[in-house]
Amino acid sequence: MAGLNKVTVDDIDVKGKKVLVRVDFNVPMKDGVITNDNRIQAALPTIKKLVSEGGKVILCSHLGKPKNGPEAKFSLKAAAERLAELVAPTKVTFVPSDKVVDDSVKAAVDAMQDGEIIVLENTRFRGAEETKNGEEFSKELASLADVFVMDAFGSAHRAHASTAGVTKFVKTTAVGYLMQKEIQFLGNAVEDPVRPFVAILGGRGALFVRLNPRTPLVPQLGKKECCRPDPCRFPTIPFCGPAVRQFCASPAKNCRYGSSDGEPAQVFHGVNYEKMEYIG
Ligand code: 3PG
Ligand code: MG
Repeated sequence: MAGLNKVTVDDIDVKGKKVLVRVDFNVPMKDGVITNDNRIQAALPTIKKLVSEGGKVILCSHLGKPKNGPEAKFSLKAAAERLAELVAPTKVTFVPSDKVVDDSVKAAVDAMQDGEIIVLENTRFRGAEETKNGEEFSKELASLADVFVMDAFGSAHRAHASTAGVTKFVKTTAVGYLMQKEIQFLGNAVEDPVRPFVAILGGRGALFVRLNPRTPLVPQLGKKECCRPDPCRFPTIPFCGPAVRQFCASPAKNCRYGSSDGEPAQVFHGVNYEKMEYIG
């Protein structure tokens, strides 16, 4: 298994400490009801570990894409309630604030007992979450915690205040079990895949995934031998979802799919675009 090379929640002591955990509770909702709680379930191993070790666990996440500040339909209240059901009898308190962090939130954090959980409001209620100058918000989040744990794999590609920004202001940082699992899985798929293998990529960000700041994932996968009997240097990489639009918008292809949503197309050097097919 590929080495992780990151500090994990197994390496830190959280007893009695305030632990800010960035989770991805961006769950699908319909009329205020969660329609799939997989992402909350996926965060449980890390949350339960920190709780069982006596950490004061402060969870933050985004939900949806609120563009003009707080909106009730994007509140994390329902996610906090679902979490409370899943970790009962652990105490879970949702501390709503349009500012995400304010004096009432700080007071609630100060009053926490070891092994309790607080859920903050949607980080995107603060526009500063997504801007490069969201440093003030990063500091406010960091001021709540002794330790920061990143476990929001689905959001780890975004350099936002609650994912990257906050790490500048918290001394002890670690990754959670979900991050650990995904990084190891991806590392193995790239470094030493079990053959035959097929990578299925989807989502708006799929073409932008990087293994490190300089290495995009797609060409790396493209270098792996595929599953055909006559080994080729190009595997089957089906794309789905918005990644298809991205790919088809690339100048290297002469195909159209729907309309571009304004995201720039990506061309990866080393990828044999001629061998890529659009099967509609
Ligand atoms: C996702 O659902 O893809 C993640 O939660 C990230 O959400 P985002 O694409 O709105 O940043
Ligand atoms: Mg996304």
